[in-house]
Amino acid sequence: MNILGINNAHNSSISYGIKNEIVFALAEERISRIKFHVGFPRMSLNYLLQNKKVKSSDIDIIAYGGYKGPSLEATKDYIDCAIKSKNKKTADRLTKSLNVDHQFSKDFYENIHAFFKDKQIIEYDHHLCHAAGAFYASGYDKSYIMTFDGRGDLQSGVIWEASKSNGIKRIKTFCELKSLGFLYGQITELLGYKSHRHEGKITGLAAFGKKTKLCDKLLNLISYQNGEIIISKNFIPFNKPNELKKLKQICAPYSDYEIAFAVQFVLEYIISNLIFYYIPKKIPLVLSGGIFGNVKLNQKIRELNHTKKIFIFPEMGDGGLSYGAVCLAQVDNGLIPKKLSNVYLGPSYSENKSFNISTGINFNKYNSIDLLTSEVAKRIYDGQIIGLLEGKIEFGPRSLGGRSLLFKADNKKINEIVNKRLNRTEFMPFAPVCLLEDAPYFYHNFDKKDKNVNYMTTCYMCTDIMLKKYPAVVHIDKTARPQVIDENHPKKIYYNIIKKCKELYGIAVLVNTSFNNHEEPIVMTLNDALKSLKKNNCDCIVTDTMNIIEYEDNKNNLEVSQIL
Ligand SMILES: [Fe+2]
Repeated sequence: MNILGINNAHNSSISYGIKNEIVFALAEERISRIKFHVGFPRMSLNYLLQNKKVKSSDIDIIAYGGYKGPSLEATKDYIDCAIKSKNKKTADRLTKSLNVDHQFSKDFYENIHAFFKDKQIIEYDHHLCHAAGAFYASGYDKSYIMTFDGRGDLQSGVIWEASKSNGIKRIKTFCELKSLGFLYGQITELLGYKSHRHEGKITGLAAFGKKTKLCDKLLNLISYQNGEIIISKNFIPFNKPNELKKLKQICAPYSDYEIAFAVQFVLEYIISNLIFYYIPKKIPLVLSGGIFGNVKLNQKIRELNHTKKIFIFPEMGDGGLSYGAVCLAQVDNGLIPKKLSNVYLGPSYSENKSFNISTGINFNKYNSIDLLTSEVAKRIYDGQIIGLLEGKIEFGPRSLGGRSLLFKADNKKINEIVNKRLNRTEFMPFAPVCLLEDAPYFYHNFDKKDKNVNYMTTCYMCTDIMLKKYPAVVHIDKTARPQVIDENHPKKIYYNIIKKCKELYGIAVLVNTSFNNHEEPIVMTLNDALKSLKKNNCDCIVTDTMNIIEYEDNKNNLEVSQIL
């Protein structure tokens, strides 16, 4: 049984399952080079058919994980909420949402029929796809699941109960009029950034703020009561000029930091209360949907200590819908989807060796991992930024050693310098990576069984040692968003670079940040990486073919080393 999953919404993607395993998953943006690509993932599908040698006849079922049409529960909650709010705009909103979803669905069918004739196609609910991908990836036998995002199939949040034996059952639905994702998006726009894209900057800004009366004012617009998300009669959390105007008036007396703090406060307050109300203490909790891309929210949920186990799906946004759709089709065909072992599900660097830029490039080939990683460690010690290109690319928003930039974290000023060099404006510091054996020295109450640190989906409070030795990766609230890896990690070069830095130079923590150009998706091919090198985003590229690649005239790019 081979199943192709497709999502053509925000951050469109494909996933491909053989029997009960997902063997390939790729976001369209990685090939199209358009961040959060919207529309049919044509290039990814062509890649699967051409480079992975999957024939049309190999595919038994196509699972569509975009928009199935609203469930009864979502429709009922929307109507209830619209009646209570007495806001006429809710009717317009309903028409618009249904039209948008219909357009996506139409786009899917037009394109899929151009690729395949007479295939069985199954459509799955947007939030059910979020839930299924996360639940089966967790490997738990039973769990509760929370899926919260901007919107999808008229919903912005659903709470589910799941077990491998009985499947996934809907417990509570919150319609899109109660969207916490859109509230966060509104504040993102209000502070001058793009919603659906820059929400992470607001999370970073929030740590600079403090509690003000604005928290209560926002809670008057959208709040929690007895298991419900309540919205004020005069407020709908959408990014429309009128709604933004209202929000702007309320926020006017407050600083950007205080505004960011307030929206983060409201988000954490409502989600925490929903957890206390709906989630039993003894059952693991699984989280998915764009809201749980918020690493500070995820830290807060862990620190509630309400459930012993928490799993955050690494591709929590809509990019993960194709993965969930495959899981659901597997279940519908009598299979139990396999647990996620890692997120390296995309194309390998070595599958695409051709490149266009050939002048002035030096390739230095090393004969062993030991020699290669010793040289890389030396370069890191000297202050270089290393671009690592190892094996299959990550499925999900984070660079996790497949396509990463690595450098030293022992000087706070490095954030400013590297941000300038990469043309980024971030309020969060860069994220750290270290070995599992060292993590308890750097993070308070570090849980060695916490799988989320494999995927950088949560924050931890840092110890004084971390603050002192690696300040570049510690935020103003003394937290960091770590990746922690051990000797079993599938990226051997990545693991050995970190090990060598520690052995040879006593550097136990490195910065691991996205290998990409400003506002572009993470690099996928050597070509993408070379373009990035040419833009001076890094000093050299290290590949899984044991090469260190650099431009001959790149020697004067060591701006970082001048300060370290
Ligand atoms: Fe979604």
